[in-house]
Amino acid sequence: MDWEGHAREAEQAFQAAATPDALDAANVEFLGRKSPLKLALRGVRDRETGMQLNAVRERIEAAASEATTRVEAAHLARRLSEEKADVTLPATLLGVVEPRPRGSLHPTTLIRRDVEDTFIGLGYEIRDDREVESVDYNFDKLAFPWWHPARSPRDTYFLDANTVLRTETSPSQIRAMMERKPPIYMVSIGRVYRRDTIDATHYPIFHQFEGLAVDRDITMADLKGTLLYVMRALFGEDRRVRFRTNYFPFTEPSMEPDVSCGVCGGSGCRTCKFSGWLEIGGCGMVDPQVLVNVGLDPDEWSGFAFGLGLERAAQLRHDIATIRPFWENDLRFLRQF
Ligand code: DAH
Repeated sequence: MDWEGHAREAEQAFQAAATPDALDAANVEFLGRKSPLKLALRGVRDRETGMQLNAVRERIEAAASEATTRVEAAHLARRLSEEKADVTLPATLLGVVEPRPRGSLHPTTLIRRDVEDTFIGLGYEIRDDREVESVDYNFDKLAFPWWHPARSPRDTYFLDANTVLRTETSPSQIRAMMERKPPIYMVSIGRVYRRDTIDATHYPIFHQFEGLAVDRDITMADLKGTLLYVMRALFGEDRRVRFRTNYFPFTEPSMEPDVSCGVCGGSGCRTCKFSGWLEIGGCGMVDPQVLVNVGLDPDEWSGFAFGLGLERAAQLRHDIATIRPFWENDLRFLRQF
């Protein structure tokens, strides 16, 4: 075998190779498992032939490696120039991808943001407190009497004897007042839990937003004016608000605000059960006992508080009869917002 001639032939083949395919072919022919060189190397018996063949192999491998570098660089340069993309073109014009389907915000999130914006506009601080709450904050400091039915495990999810899933956002009032001195103007929004059987108006988890204002000389007129302003911001300028007396352990006096029905404008229809009014939550003047419980002097400070249902507010806004779709994640419902 003329190995010198063979080596030169191989070097020429690699130098001539301009494409990855030609390079592959030269590799198979001169360095492949069945190439003359590899077959000869396998049959080597003496040292001198071995050294000669290894020298040939080194020459051919050097030629192959030089060719590989050159071909890959050329291949990359061609791809870069041929396949360049204008990334500013819309994807659909390029024909590359379909536009991605876009989700929308959940109706609870939408109204939550409106509530936040409304109160931020009034100068309120927005709080986000814990859902796992102590019995002390959820009931005791809010002046729930020992016999109150909400303290029963039939109504409330207990994690242990001293810990519950909060049944309302009202413990945020306690947290806010324990953290620092008045003046306090805060709204706390979040999930609350009750052991209710699911029906049109009840779900074992739902959202509330809780407001608290504590300052010098806060009166019921401030409460009424604030709620009227907020109801109109959320539901429309023509809404009216009325207050019915009620009882809550942590307010005195306590009231339930109603907002005029948006479906009939207050004249009476099926949505408002022909009363012209819709219930939305509870409110009142902070009970002096609650102020004492958090270390505030009721002669110096007074306050109002309210707790309203967030899903309830969204229901009123969109005239939705039940709370269930807010928790069922049916896309046919959610896509409407
Ligand atoms: N926590 C009450 C409930 O869940 C609602 C409530 C009533 C909150 C009066 C208040 C309030 O802050 O002052 O039924």
